[in-house]
Amino acid sequence: MNRRILLAALAAAAAAIAIPAAAQQPKLKVGFMLPYSGTYAALGDAIEKGFRLYLTEQGGRIGGREVEFFKVDDESDPAKATDNVNKLIKRDNVDVIVGTAHSGVAMAMAKAAKDNGTLLIIPNAGAVAVTGPMCAQNIFRSSFSNWQPGYAMGEVAAKRGAKKVVTITWKYAAGDESVGGFKEAFEKSGGQVVKELSLPFPNVEFQPLLTEIAAIKPDAVYTFFAGGGAVKFVKDYAAAGLKKTIPLYGAGFLTDGTLDAQGADADGLLTTLHYGDGLDNPKDRSFRAAYSKAYNAVPDVYAVQGYDAAQMLGIGLAAVKGDVANKPGIASAIVAAKIDSPRGPFTIGASHNPVQDMYLRQVVGKDNKVIGVATKALADPGRGCKM
Ligand code: PHB
Repeated sequence: MNRRILLAALAAAAAAIAIPAAAQQPKLKVGFMLPYSGTYAALGDAIEKGFRLYLTEQGGRIGGREVEFFKVDDESDPAKATDNVNKLIKRDNVDVIVGTAHSGVAMAMAKAAKDNGTLLIIPNAGAVAVTGPMCAQNIFRSSFSNWQPGYAMGEVAAKRGAKKVVTITWKYAAGDESVGGFKEAFEKSGGQVVKELSLPFPNVEFQPLLTEIAAIKPDAVYTFFAGGGAVKFVKDYAAAGLKKTIPLYGAGFLTDGTLDAQGADADGLLTTLHYGDGLDNPKDRSFRAAYSKAYNAVPDVYAVQGYDAAQMLGIGLAAVKGDVANKPGIASAIVAAKIDSPRGPFTIGASHNPVQDMYLRQVVGKDNKVIGVATKALADPGRGCKM
């Protein structure tokens, strides 16, 4: 064989084994740790649907890699959280964890993610600590901090003339921090929280607390409840006759994904949240059309957060060509991005929490109709975060 023929043969052989870079990489292992049972079961379902919708739109690949899913039902139980997250990290050896809804579970997940260096994207739980003292290069949130909707509603309640407010919530991080955000804004504007009522998660024995509210007669009530508990609270508040006399203000979870079950008892309620109905931006229109085609359902805030978790992962992994070990590259791409969300474009702040508009919504029939922006481009303060 002369030299020319030899070179041609070598080139042909090289071409035959040249496979596109992306195809050489193994599947990306994504672990869903979400509530698939209990009061937050509907949240987990919507988050997963939103995430999968984005993946379908991307032809089944993220960062050039095909995706393989692993699933754990966390039952919104903080006591089982460390064991559950270790199933994904140690047993399944996932590349990224997407979860969860419940703040107490999310804090255990954040600790494990930090200790093991696993990429974690939180598609709901608003635990302030996760983008505060526990913040880390490999931990992101596509949703909100519990402080954000509460803070926005504190401003709204003050503007609407309330002076004395009673708060009522579940006694755990989400409830405490939601009330904390509300109180911070409301008291800054001259209002006063006269009583903070609570019950353990996920209890729904609201009656004694509603009796207390009736006796105190505040100007308004502020509440954080979500999922199945929110359905019952709204119905019980109306049944107790309070809806007619004392305005009920809430973080928007109170009426998100719940209106079919709440019916007329939710009519007229005012809430603050980073999503709502009637936003009418191009991304929301196309997202809603695709979601309803895929699932025959109207998306709620949880579906949006799941979709955006997938978008953030896509942005991060595209920047590092699918190399999930490159955490600094992933983080800088996500922090630099403007995320084209159905909620409207948003950015990720230095503590890895969304900086986003908080909408004021009012329940009209089966819609959380957006009636204004309560607080524009609201960033969680990220207190205690040192990256
Ligand atoms: C939380 O635990 O952080 C939480 C749960 C459900 C929500 C919002 C926040 O709808």
